[in-house]
Amino acid sequence: MKSIIYCATLILWPGGVPGLVSEDVYKECFMALATALGVDDSVSQWVGELPARSRVFEHNGIDYCCGGKATLRQACAKRNIDPAAIMTDLLAAGHDPDQRDWSTATLTDLADHIESTHHAWLKKELPRVAMLVHRTFTVHGLHYAFLTELKTTYDRFASEMDAHMFKEEHILFPRIRLIEARQADVDVDHPVAIMEHEHDRAGADLEQLRTLSDNYTAPAEACNTFRAMLDALREIEVDTHIHVHKENNILFPRAIAAARAGGV
Ligand SMILES: [Fe+2]
Ligand SMILES: [Fe+2]
Repeated sequence: MKSIIYCATLILWPGGVPGLVSEDVYKECFMALATALGVDDSVSQWVGELPARSRVFEHNGIDYCCGGKATLRQACAKRNIDPAAIMTDLLAAGHDPDQRDWSTATLTDLADHIESTHHAWLKKELPRVAMLVHRTFTVHGLHYAFLTELKTTYDRFASEMDAHMFKEEHILFPRIRLIEARQADVDVDHPVAIMEHEHDRAGADLEQLRTLSDNYTAPAEACNTFRAMLDALREIEVDTHIHVHKENNILFPRAIAAARAGGV
């Protein structure tokens, strides 16, 4: 009964009523109202409910796309992070008006969105960052040994993502649109399995780039090209995580379900 009163107070005075409700109880009520999710729910569920939470995971180095099936407790244990602390941040993450809830969009709209935003951006960014990586390696490769492996890893990531996006745009996404339009009975399980495998490879390369560059930390004497390269790699990691999350955790499972149900 007491908590009902507290929660009612929270609804009536969302900014809090100093002196009337203790901070702990207030926080407890806020958590109960904000979500039904807990530490044993998956990381992808946390992001799926509110995409703005992806920033909290990015900030803490938690993979919510390829590693999205892990529970919040498991993901925190892997990074040695206190789950209670991260839950507070997750619940405080604001609603970003620019972030649409793609779990209720049509599959066609989501596929179109992925192509016109994430794919289009990455296709422009990959050659630009390749130029930064190669220039940095040429000038500083002798002094910073890690740049050799960073260049190899980046080149592999870029060429595989290029081919990966081509396959999605020319094989998988057209099939998904046909399924939604109920115009063809086509298989998506096999191409989805391949795409998910390629996401894992891309995720491993991004993790490697982060490790090699010590979390994208620029050496004190790094030139502007060196710094621009590290910033660009960080941006590619952030965008690729959001991109893969939309595919692995929203588009692909919904497409598989729709194909099994004989269309949407
Ligand atoms: Fe994609
Ligand atoms: Fe993909």
